[in-house]
Formats: sequence, structure tokens, C-alpha cells
Amino acid sequence: MTRQIMLSTTLHELRSARLLLDGTVGLVPTMGFLHAGHISLVRRAREECQNVIVSIFVNPTQFGPNEDLSKYPRDLDRDLHLLEEAGADLVWTPTPEVVYPPGFQTWVEVQEMTRPLEGAQRPGHFRGVTTVVAKLFNAVQPTKAYFGQKDAQQTAVIQRMVRDLNFPIEIVVCPIVREPDGLAMSSRNVYLDTEQRKVATVLYRALSAAKEEFEKGGRDAEKLRRTMQEVIAREPLAQMQYVSCADYDTLRELDKVTGKTLLSMAVFIGKTRLIDNFVLE
Ligand code: PAF
Repeated sequence: MTRQIMLSTTLHELRSARLLLDGTVGLVPTMGFLHAGHISLVRRAREECQNVIVSIFVNPTQFGPNEDLSKYPRDLDRDLHLLEEAGADLVWTPTPEVVYPPGFQTWVEVQEMTRPLEGAQRPGHFRGVTTVVAKLFNAVQPTKAYFGQKDAQQTAVIQRMVRDLNFPIEIVVCPIVREPDGLAMSSRNVYLDTEQRKVATVLYRALSAAKEEFEKGGRDAEKLRRTMQEVIAREPLAQMQYVSCADYDTLRELDKVTGKTLLSMAVFIGKTRLIDNFVLE
């Protein structure tokens, strides 16, 4: 049975609705144009919490000047339909003016962990993410918040922020949802044409090749990075931005794999920038 979903836009509407909720609240922050990955977060929240709130906000401050903010895909009607089916109770769709009132000048910034990987390629990106997520946490006051492992650095940075700022919120990290051929679900996959879509499995193939090497005993991090680079280099339509074999907790590049490790990468397929990762335990 699908429930009646509520929609709030202003902060006042959200707060009034939130006050009426009894029991635990799970928050799933999103930028909309939902896919199976987002829905898996909503379903997990549904299983674990008495109330489920989803925010949909394409956050301008996490996009760089040359990124895809204006053409970021949006389809609110479809999103609401999917959320109703997945069992969300309340959807908050604030406008940029609600999140960033005139004269806005207060930022939340996690320092060291935001410098490598995505942070190195997208200056200011994580400052935008942590600021908006802190604002969503303050507005919604959830018991738990759900994020996807696909954005591995983002989840690590948010967990750091939650510890550093003493947010009384449990962060739940959910597994990457993949297409049958291995491509990680992403709102940006819609930008790929038919040929690019085929090539886009190169991220999964490169990560799988490195994982296979690791499973055969390979512990030299540089060799694992090279294996991933070589797989990507064989695809003329793919342009590697970075590959990484880093310590899972500090995100520092490794020489030798000894503990929990994050293999990650960003690759351009045409103009579309895709990221993906595997965790080696
Ligand atoms: O992962 C995302 O979609 C965004 O970075 C988030 C967490 C909703 C913040 O805008």
C-alpha cells in the first residue's frame, strides 16, 4: 500500500510537519532525478525509522563554475511518484533562497580530508556539500541520515563533520547500486549516448581488474593504480582524471595495501564525469 506523501517547500512548512512526527526520523538528502541507488536509501530508511524524510535540492554551492548546475537533470513529478512508492512520508524541496538567504556567509568546512581525490579536482565542492548537509541536518533534525557508498569521499567527510560538530545523528552508508553490466547508478548516466554508455563500464572493469590483482595477493598500491590506468587507457572514448588506491579512513595514497583500502577513480566519458569505487577489506 502506498502512503500519502507530504510536500514542504519553506522552512516553516518543514518545521511544522517535523514537529508532528513521533519517533525516529530517517533523512535521505538528494539532488533529485532519483534512480535505484536513491530508492535503496529510502527503502533502508523505511526499514529502520518510523518516519522518512527526503530532501530534494540541487545545491548550487557544490558545483564549480565549469560544472553542470544549469543542465543538472530534474523531474520532480517523477521523483515524487518514486518516493511515494518507496514509502517516504515527507519530501522537502527548498528553493535556493530558503537554503541561502540574502547575505549568506556562513560555511562549514572539513579541512584535510577534502583536499585529495574529488576535492583536488573540484575546489570548493565539499565546502558546498558540508554546508548544505549541516543545514539539512539542522532543519530536519533526523535520527539517522542515509548516504550512498558511491560518493565514498563525501560519506567520509560527512562522518567527520558529524563527529567534529557533535551532530546527534547516525550516518548510514548504503552499498552502490549497479546496472547489470556493472555501471554504478548515477543521475549523470542520462548524459551518455549509446556508444558512451557501453564505454562507461570501463570504471567497473578497471576497479574489478585491480580487485582481482589484490585477491591474488597484489599489495603494491602503485601497481594497483597502474592496472586501473591501463584498463582505462585502452578505451579511446574514456579520459582518466584520477585513479587512487588510498587508506579508507585518511584517504591518503598508499604505497602498500595493509588495511581497509579505497580504490576510486574519476573518468570523463565525453563531457560526462563519472566516479566509482571499490572497498578492499
Ligand atoms: O550526494 C548528493 O546528492 C549531494 O551531494 C547531497 C548529499 C544531497 C548534498 O547536496
